[in-house]
Amino acid sequence: MTNATLGLYGLGTMGSALALNILDNGYPLHVSNRTDKVVDDFVAEAGPLAEKLTPARSLVAMAQAMEAPRAIILMVPAGRPVDESIAELVPHLEHGDVIVDAGNADFNDTMRRTRELEAQGLAFLGMGVSGGEEGARRGPSIMVGGTEAVWEGLREVIEAIAAKFEGDPCAARLGPDGAGHFVKTVHNGIEYADMQLIAETYGLMRYGRGMAPARIGEVFAGWNKGRLQSYLVEITAEVLAATDRETGAPALDDILDRAGQKGTGRWTVIEALRMGQSASAIEAAVAARSWSAEKPTREAGAVLLGFTRGAVELTDAELEAALLAGRIVAYAQGFRILRAASDEFGWSLDFARVAEIWRAGCIIRSSLLDDISGAFRGDLPEGQLIFAPAFAQMLQQSAPALRKVVAAAALAGHAAPAFSGALAFLDTMSTARGTTDLIQGQRDFFGRHGFERLDGRAGQHGPWWD
Ligand SMILES: NC(=O)c1ccc[n+]([C@@H]2O[C@H](COP(=O)([O-])OP(=O)(O)OC[C@H]3O[C@@H](n4cnc5c(N)ncnc54)[C@H](OP(=O)(O)O)[C@@H]3O)[C@@H](O)[C@H]2O)c1
Repeated sequence: MTNATLGLYGLGTMGSALALNILDNGYPLHVSNRTDKVVDDFVAEAGPLAEKLTPARSLVAMAQAMEAPRAIILMVPAGRPVDESIAELVPHLEHGDVIVDAGNADFNDTMRRTRELEAQGLAFLGMGVSGGEEGARRGPSIMVGGTEAVWEGLREVIEAIAAKFEGDPCAARLGPDGAGHFVKTVHNGIEYADMQLIAETYGLMRYGRGMAPARIGEVFAGWNKGRLQSYLVEITAEVLAATDRETGAPALDDILDRAGQKGTGRWTVIEALRMGQSASAIEAAVAARSWSAEKPTREAGAVLLGFTRGAVELTDAELEAALLAGRIVAYAQGFRILRAASDEFGWSLDFARVAEIWRAGCIIRSSLLDDISGAFRGDLPEGQLIFAPAFAQMLQQSAPALRKVVAAAALAGHAAPAFSGALAFLDTMSTARGTTDLIQGQRDFFGRHGFERLDGRAGQHGPWWD
């Protein structure tokens, strides 16, 4: 396996960038693509790197041209294309070969595919890759699920192509079968929440404080030198500063306010709910994208309900602190989901290592991740990131600003679902005696569900049944 012949199928945005990265690192590579014209274009694009390249006209032709043991990376859309590619490949593979799915697969599919391929004497690696096209080309963050043996066989090449944080490769085997794709899914869930918090901040500055996009961009650029330092804040500053090629107006003014999504945010929320978890900031972000797609409904609502967005009195410093608090909650909720999955599937995820491999190459890389890995290696009361001393202190300092931002947004009519969701989580987790005593009373009243008394006696019923 260490000497596996490498092949890559699917030369789209991510596949072609990853292929060039592999070639750059000196590894010979076989490639093919569904539409074979793309292969010719890729060979031309590869320039001098094409020397180590063996193009093939089809997936099967590629497998046949490769010497065993083979490691074939699939970089095609998740779902059916992956199953179809595997079905095509399998008759041409032999014991010891491995298929690597480097797309954004649903981890349930990865677990199933692992079982099916292992039953046929083949191996499967579920490999989450983050960092977009630039990451794939220059070094992404790579989250792997699979057996130790298969990982060890491919480790050298995976670590070579991965991003490096102070020399440490941002790639790790995180557990068996679906673990890598699950961690990648939750990574994307956190990404959704962080992007939504940033968008809400932009909305308050633009429509609540009347600031021009370029000016907001300058503020974000300044924040990127402080506690909010991160890839997403950095690119936000650039997007806000950009002007349209044709009109010269802010580039944002020509972009339709309807967000796309491919599933990973939704899967994060579905899995969280299934495991009895909730991730309010991530849920809010997924919902916000879904609602954004209802443009005609929103346009009708603007007329029919006639709510207006008013001015907000918030300083840059308050928004910066609120964004920091929201971001901490987004990460914390993501790690809570990872903990629940690790317990359910027996993955023994190393949360500190997860944070470490997100420090470079991926979309949610930020200066907070160093603190997060430190927190997971230290004393973590109740296993909660928000209670780690460094984070508890940051939250104590930033929560008043978060509270002010949520209140100002609500009073002036600005939707801020991720900020609100983050604050609700913090307020709930810092309330020792909540209000579900009433919920339990109601449940017992209408359904005789019973409740537990404060003295520990369970299965009790209220006087309404006397
Ligand atoms: N874009 C990102 O930032 C990003 C980041 C991380 C992960 N991902 C994941 O990476 C994977 C690839 O994404 P991408 O952005 O590179 O997509 P893309 O640019 O749309 O490329 C898709 C590739 O898959 C091929 N393909 C599509 N349907 C196929 C099918 N039914 N059978 C075989 N091949 C098929 C396409 O071939 P043709 O040339 O014939 O169309 C093309 O080579 C996805 O799982 C995506 O979620 C993307």
